Amino acid sequence: MWLFSRSCQSKARLAGKTVVITGANTGIGKETAKDLYRRGARVVLACRDVEKAKQAIEELQTTLPSKPEREQFSGEPGELSICHLDLCSFASVRKCAQTLNSTEPNIHILINNAGVMMCPFAKTEDGYEIQLQANHLGHFLLTLLLLPKLMKSTPARIINVSSIAHMYADIDFDDINLEQSYSSMKAYNRSKLANILFTKELARQLEEAKIDGITTYSLHPGLIATELGRHLNETVFPGARFIARIVSVPFRKTPELGAQTTIHCATDEKAESETGLYYKECSVAAPSTKSKDPELARKLWNESIKMVGLEPKNNLNELLTQISQILSSM
Ligand SMILES: NC(=O)c1ccc[n+]([C@@H]2O[C@H](COP(=O)([O-])OP(=O)(O)OC[C@H]3O[C@@H](n4cnc5c(N)ncnc54)[C@H](OP(=O)(O)O)[C@@H]3O)[C@@H](O)[C@H]2O)c1
Repeated sequence: MWLFSRSCQSKARLAGKTVVITGANTGIGKETAKDLYRRGARVVLACRDVEKAKQAIEELQTTLPSKPEREQFSGEPGELSICHLDLCSFASVRKCAQTLNSTEPNIHILINNAGVMMCPFAKTEDGYEIQLQANHLGHFLLTLLLLPKLMKSTPARIINVSSIAHMYADIDFDDINLEQSYSSMKAYNRSKLANILFTKELARQLEEAKIDGITTYSLHPGLIATELGRHLNETVFPGARFIARIVSVPFRKTPELGAQTTIHCATDEKAESETGLYYKECSVAAPSTKSKDPELARKLWNESIKMVGLEPKNNLNELLTQISQILSSM
C-alpha cells in the first residue's frame, strides 16, 4: 500500500447539499459517494448500468467509511439516488441532464469521475473515439447542460478526475479520433489532458463572464486498485492486468484512499477560494506545461463545442443563452 497517501482533512458536513457523481457504482466514484453521503449529502449516482448502481446503493447504505468516528460522519447520512448516464451517447447525456435539471432543485457539486482506460479502438454512436467521448466530451456536455443549475446553487464546485497520465499527452486536432495513429495509451493520456484543459478554460470563462461562486478543480487520484485496468489484457497483452496488479502493489492505494483528493476538492474550506487548479494528494500540484497552455485550452473548448453539437459562441454568456433555450425545449 502507498505509504505517503494523504487524507482529506475537511470536517465539513454536507446536509442540504446535492452532489452528482458520474461512474459512482464502483472504484473511486463509489468511495467518494460513500464519504459524501455519510457527510449528509444527497448523492446522485450517474451511472450507465442501473443494476450496478442499485447494488452500489445497497452497499453504501450498509457500510461505513473506515473511520466512522470522524467528526464529518457524526450526523445523519444523506440520501442516495440514481440517474442513468452513458457518456458514450450524447443523447443519454442530454437525457441525464434533463432529468437532473427537473428532479434536483439544486446541484452544489458535480464530480466528473467516470472513465475508461486503454480500451481497444472503437467509435461511439456519435462518431468519436471512445476514450475521448467517455472521459472528456460526455463530461464537457453534461457540465454545460448543468451549468445553469450550478449557477443557481452557488457556492458550487465542478471536479474533473484526471490523471498523472496527462503528462505524456498532446492533442492533434487534425486526427481527433486518432484513426491515423491509434494507441490505447495515447488516447487515454490525451483524454486526461483534456480534463485539465477543460477545468482551466471553464474557470477562465466563468471569470470572464463575471459568474461568481462556481469553482473548478482537476486532480490525479493516485494509483488505485479499481476496475480501470479491465482492458489491459486486450490492448497490451494477455496477462498484462495481472502483472500490472503485482508490480503496482507497493504504490497502490485502496479505493477509499484514492477518493481522498476528490473529496478534498469537494469539501475543503480553503479550496473554495481556489479555481482552475490541479491537485494531487489533497494539495495543489503542478500539471504538465501543455496543460497550462491557454491557446490549447481555448482550441479544445471551441472544438468540443462543435463536437457535442452546440453552436460556437463568442462568450460564455451567449453560450448559456443557447443552453437555456436547449433546456427549455427538452
Ligand atoms: N484507478 C487509478 O489508478 C486511476 C489513476 C488515475 C486516474 N484515475 C481516474 O479515476 C476515475 C475513476 O476511475 P476508477 O479507477 O474508479 O475506475 P473504475 O473502477 O473502472 O470505474 C470507472 C467508472 O466509470 C464508469 N464508466 C465508464 N464508461 C462509462 C460511460 N461510457 N458512461 C458512464 N459511466 C462510465 C464505469 O461504469 P461501469 O462499472 O458500468 O463500467 C465505472 O463506474 C477515472 O476518470 C480514471 O481515469 C484512476
